[in-house]
Amino acid sequence: MLAAIFLAAGMLSPKVVAIRAAPASQTPSFSRDVFPILRDNCMACHSSAVKMGGLVMESYDMLMKGGKDGQVIVPGKSAASRMILMLEGKVKPQMPFGGNPLPADQLSLLKAWIDSGAAGPAPGEAPVSAQPNIPNIKPEVPVVSPIGSLAFSPDGKMLAVGGYQEVELLDPASGKVLAALKGHADLVRSLAWTPDGRRLAAAGGLPQRAGEIKIWDVASRTLSKTLNGHTDCIYSVAASPDGKLVASASYDKLIKLWDIETGAEVRTLKDHIDAVFAVAFSPDGKRLASGAQDRTVKIWDVATGERLYTLSEALDSVTAIAFSPSGAQLAAAGADKTIRTYALGEKGGSLLESVIADEDTILELAYTPDGKTLISSSADRSIRFRDAATLFPKKVLDNQPDWVEALSVSPDGKWLAAGRYDGSVSVYNLANYEQALGPLVAFVPATGAPKGRESALR
Ligand code: HEC
Repeated sequence: MLAAIFLAAGMLSPKVVAIRAAPASQTPSFSRDVFPILRDNCMACHSSAVKMGGLVMESYDMLMKGGKDGQVIVPGKSAASRMILMLEGKVKPQMPFGGNPLPADQLSLLKAWIDSGAAGPAPGEAPVSAQPNIPNIKPEVPVVSPIGSLAFSPDGKMLAVGGYQEVELLDPASGKVLAALKGHADLVRSLAWTPDGRRLAAAGGLPQRAGEIKIWDVASRTLSKTLNGHTDCIYSVAASPDGKLVASASYDKLIKLWDIETGAEVRTLKDHIDAVFAVAFSPDGKRLASGAQDRTVKIWDVATGERLYTLSEALDSVTAIAFSPSGAQLAAAGADKTIRTYALGEKGGSLLESVIADEDTILELAYTPDGKTLISSSADRSIRFRDAATLFPKKVLDNQPDWVEALSVSPDGKWLAAGRYDGSVSVYNLANYEQALGPLVAFVPATGAPKGRESALR
């Protein structure tokens, strides 16, 4: 048995090498040759959620746009391309940051692609999944799914946790898994309960291909519907306060409103000129707020789909927004590390407060149900608590083991759940900020699973 595996591996590897190190005569292709190298070695730090150095590699266009210091690829000139200089250690810090340098064959492939003009995917060429191929980095370590999303149920008795292709319902007191809802296309990036707690919308989808929302019937643990409609993955979903609509925000620059009961697409809201990362309904259900990579927050009329106005104070991508429970203020934050609060009027919003709140991109925002505290998490590995009116800091939980990409406050205001990129979940007691549960690994890989996934991807 073992011999057969080794034999098979031995027979396969020359083929793998042949694919990887394309002959000089053959021009490397972005999708087939370049993207897999970036996905497997760089995406952990250069995804749109993490965005180190301001550089995102999820698509050709984003890679060509470059990072905080501008373009990283000069087509036709690998020796003048900062990405290559950093991979070679000629410009510091060397990439991949803190890891082993790229093998020579992969480096020469990247150079050959740039020297051949750095062409993008051919029209009609099948896109490759941006799901990082973690097993390639740590072949012997089981794959732990990052936590993409978290949401307490309206009665506070369940915590829904979104991971790779799966949602778990946990008992927030014990951490016990009550149910596993499977069959999602990729990472579940956002979750929303209907206010009656009967349904859970779980959204994500395949980067550059399709958005997906699965509506689960929670009591029976069965799938009620799958909503497809966006052409890229969904970063945020919200349920309307009357429980009738779900709003989705996608990388495809669009926001869609869906009828939860029938699954019908009710409306498409189109005005953002770049990826939309966050949506939220006002507590009265009349308005929808959205935050996007185009550095704006837009306010929409839910009934008509009309864009009412745009708030354009942010200096970089808006990644998180939240309405205060009373609806009196809207908070928005993102890559400019600043939290801004607004009072929303009929024709425009007025800026209430603005503070540089963090040392890195702000990933999530949440109000406590009493509206007194605004909680944020950031790529500097902290969770910060602020007075919601003044934004004056109250408390910091720093030295988080990894980026906290998901936050949820229990409806009674007693608990804060935090989900991290390393796959861990903790529940904090908001009375004393002590950890009451965790860190626990939500999606424990089954033994043998990583091998299965590795062979599926290779
Ligand atoms: C562990 C995290 C990590 C990994 C993995 C990683 N990077 Fe980076 N990258 C960073 C950080 C942090 C910066 C910002 C460095 C600075 O400016 O001090 C950065 C910056 C860059 C920049 C410069 C962006 C700009 O405009 O300043 C390039 C180019 C880059 N990385 C390429 C790569 C490539 C290619 C890979 C994969 C082979 C990779 N990185 C893997 C963390 C990472």
